Amino acid sequence: MVIHFDSDQQVFHLQGKDTSYCMQIVGSGFLTHLYWGKKITSYHGSNPILFANRRFSPNPDPSDRTFSLDTLPQEYPAYGNTDFRAPAYQIQLENGSTITDLRYKKYFIYKGKQKLAGLPATYIENDHEAESIDIFLEDSLIGLSVILTYTVFESYNVITRSVRFQNQGREQLKIIRALSANIDFRDDQFDFLTLYGAHINERNIERRPVSPGNQSIESRRGASSHQQNPFFALLRKDVTEDHGDVYGFSLVYSGNFLAHVEVDQFHTTRASIGLNPFDFSWKVEPGDFFQTPEVVLVYSSEGLGEMSRTYNELYRTRLCRGTFRDLVRPILLNNWEATYMKFTAEKIMEIAKAGKEVGIELFVLDDGWFGKRDNDKSSLGDWVVNKRKLPNGLANLADKILNLGMEFGLWFEPEMVSVDSDLYRDHPDWCLHVPNRKRSEGRNQLVLDLSRKEVCDYIIQAVSTVLASAPITYVKWDMNRHMTEIGSEKLPKDKQRETAHRYMLGLYYVLEKMITKFPHVLFESCSGGGGRFDPGMLYYMPQTWTSDNTDAISRLKIQYGTSLVYPVISMCSHVSSVPNHQVQRVTSLAIRGHVAMAGNLGYELDLTKLSPQEKDEIKQQINLYKEIRHVVQFGDFYRLLNPFEGNESAWMFVSKDKSEVVMGYFKVLAEPNAPFVRLQLKGLNPDFLYKHIETGKVYGGDELLYVGIALPMLKGDFTSVFWRFRTVEIHLNA
Ligand code: DGJ
Repeated sequence: MVIHFDSDQQVFHLQGKDTSYCMQIVGSGFLTHLYWGKKITSYHGSNPILFANRRFSPNPDPSDRTFSLDTLPQEYPAYGNTDFRAPAYQIQLENGSTITDLRYKKYFIYKGKQKLAGLPATYIENDHEAESIDIFLEDSLIGLSVILTYTVFESYNVITRSVRFQNQGREQLKIIRALSANIDFRDDQFDFLTLYGAHINERNIERRPVSPGNQSIESRRGASSHQQNPFFALLRKDVTEDHGDVYGFSLVYSGNFLAHVEVDQFHTTRASIGLNPFDFSWKVEPGDFFQTPEVVLVYSSEGLGEMSRTYNELYRTRLCRGTFRDLVRPILLNNWEATYMKFTAEKIMEIAKAGKEVGIELFVLDDGWFGKRDNDKSSLGDWVVNKRKLPNGLANLADKILNLGMEFGLWFEPEMVSVDSDLYRDHPDWCLHVPNRKRSEGRNQLVLDLSRKEVCDYIIQAVSTVLASAPITYVKWDMNRHMTEIGSEKLPKDKQRETAHRYMLGLYYVLEKMITKFPHVLFESCSGGGGRFDPGMLYYMPQTWTSDNTDAISRLKIQYGTSLVYPVISMCSHVSSVPNHQVQRVTSLAIRGHVAMAGNLGYELDLTKLSPQEKDEIKQQINLYKEIRHVVQFGDFYRLLNPFEGNESAWMFVSKDKSEVVMGYFKVLAEPNAPFVRLQLKGLNPDFLYKHIETGKVYGGDELLYVGIALPMLKGDFTSVFWRFRTVEIHLNA
């Protein structure tokens, strides 16, 4: 890993593990993009930026009609001075104009990686893990300095980028667009891959060719959203799971975002990502600065699988933090689908006892334990125990659960307020709203205004009081509606468009405080399932409730799509009852277990209603998961069959030393006269011998990789195979 500057050619060369990223200063100080891809030793100008006189592409310098920003591949393009494509940023000046002109000024290379003020970001544990460069661009007319920061990681094919706007002039600057990264590729032979969805149907995979004009995904919902994930990849046309060049863009942010791809008249492709400029602006006073979120760029020359393993590993080890980062996660039992909000302390104890009998390690009390909450019409914000349901209080219940030999966890939805709540009656101005406008409700609730410090402090104090009152070692942090009438009573009128981003900064402030105060608490984020499954939240909470959809068959796609970016350990996955509550499907306990075991396993059903046989099966699943979870949670993840492409799905986990393997195969519908199925495994050491635990047979790693292994004929709908392999010392012929 090294970053160097060739002053003769004016070329910056960032060399990562197996990747190179090159930029060049051309003309009178324009920073251009030269190359991003497989690592090269050095750049000698084999594919220089070419100049031609293109009509209708104007020239900043009239003496050179071949030079136009409209035809230049740029690193951080501006608006208004000869480039007609979408700019990376835009600033309004006091005179009302929106034209700025950035020129290269200087650079600064340093070991390590700096933190981003108030924002989540990937990190390093020692300075040798990464090298960074700050490239300073300047608009000397207005005293604007824009610092592009790039970090190269030693052990990953990752480059992170972020931007800082520093107002060193005398006038107030209003940022109206500030994306985190822009890359101008010099051709358009790409597919655009995104993760789209809906509540209970998150992170479907969409792959389409880029085409002339603009294509984009975004969130305007005040959260990263179920609908689009803050991620996209550009894929060369030949890309498969295991082959081809992939360029991933993942934004470390949990609010409104924009990911934009533009194919221009010359068939070049501009790709950018960052804060959504929609309904956004930010005033920067003289002497002040604005910091954009970080974007994590991943290059893979070995298809989507390798891109995912890079994101998975980086996010597991250098985005997630805290006590639980490197610990196997407890198998939990959650009462939501078992009782919803209709429960008593006795009922909870009955379910918990049944959980203990099957081997559950953590009991989670979900929504309904506070205020006077019996349904979603009241009490959010009133974080005091509901004495009618829990007459002896929370501590008493938690103690009893602890006495059974399990940990105790609790649900909160701290960012919200019910209209019917003491909090709202006391502070009707504490929610996002616009004066004299109706406050639209979602699930009968309003969104607290986290752009206000006093609201953030209330949340910290209210949740902390509960956490300090009982032995609670897990928190599910939920968020169940998106933002409307976005405005803050505290902000002046010319800063109202800062509200949504200020909310996110407020949220990150709250979360940082909470995890610092309660380092022994395992936090799980949730937003109606996976509505905020994004890198921003993972920085504070190392696991996420993947989806409110607990149906095993739906989960095949949801978990497969999620795995494109996010580590399996962060994907919580529960076995629930049948008929499934979201889609009414009836599947076997076996497949429900097998799908959930390909994540961070939990159960979410009334165990007291199950037969002794079913409880016994669950006990066996839990015992099995306890044996394999270190492989599932810390191993490398390989996708074998894509559920978006057909009736089957398969994936596997390989421990880092390649000695342990877990494999799952799933067939959705039965087929008449079905073909025989053989699976070629991935990620094994070809020289190792592997014992197939279920049959005791021994196979060579190369055999499993190249010949593959035959699967049994499966009968019926919704079937699965779940196998383990472990290396053995013996030789086949011994
Ligand atoms: C939405 C979550 O995703 C569910 O798991 C559950 O916690 C409910 N909220 C509770 O209201």
